[in-house]
Amino acid sequence: MTDRLDSEIAGEFLLTARSLAEYRAMFALGADELRGRILDCPGGAASFACEAAEFGAEVIAVDPCYAQPAGELRETALADTDRGNAWSAAHAGLYSWDWYGGDPAVHRRMRHAAVRRFTADLSEHPGRYVAAALPALPFSDNTFDLVLSSHLLFTYADRLNADFHLAALLELARVSRGEVRLYPLLDHSGEDLAELVAWVRAELRARGVGSALRPTVAYEFQRGADRQLVLNPQPSVGVS
Ligand SMILES: C[S@@+](CC[C@H](N)C(=O)[O-])C[C@H]1O[C@@H](n2cnc3c(N)ncnc32)[C@H](O)[C@@H]1O
Repeated sequence: MTDRLDSEIAGEFLLTARSLAEYRAMFALGADELRGRILDCPGGAASFACEAAEFGAEVIAVDPCYAQPAGELRETALADTDRGNAWSAAHAGLYSWDWYGGDPAVHRRMRHAAVRRFTADLSEHPGRYVAAALPALPFSDNTFDLVLSSHLLFTYADRLNADFHLAALLELARVSRGEVRLYPLLDHSGEDLAELVAWVRAELRARGVGSALRPTVAYEFQRGADRQLVLNPQPSVGVS
């Protein structure tokens, strides 16, 4: 794959802003799972923490970007949303717009709304947003009932090496007393990372952390990104 998003982005990592609806589809999250203590890492400018709190969940979002002033984050998130949206629309072969009603404008509107909710929530509930970075989180073992991680690990495998992935996954598993769900398992250019996924799963297994591959819910924005990786899978859910 020669056509790469990294040639199009200004910063090292895009500051994206997914909504609760996108999180629920990516992670196959039922309404009954939006409760207890949930970690979203990286949280970026997603509105997940704010929206899931309305269902009664106690969400903590972690991202090193939260060390920046709120106004700066808002401007970066809006600019990165537009850049990512334009790039995806211009590379139709790599993306499926079905989940967004076939319309890139729906995607853009949804992400802008998420930035607005995130920004408002950051000022109303600053305690929900913790500036920290993988692979070292400022939480005790088994703090969370559920841990979600989207669009950092695997997505940026061209700049985060295999050892970083393993250390980060072990850290996410350490702070969770339930499942850890990761999505997607492709990099940002659409490159399949089956080899890296198999390697981390074997290394995790050797350290006593089980894992499974599980389908998303009719969500496949990047073509081929139709599965999530689940650590500590609960026995009642399908295991591959
Ligand atoms: C593409 S965004 C994903 C945000 C959110 N999960 C979403 O889906 O919209 C990637 C985020 O990873 C954050 N990040 C970069 N390095 C990190 C690290 N070592 N630990 C945690 N987050 C990191 C960046 O600041 C950026 O906000």
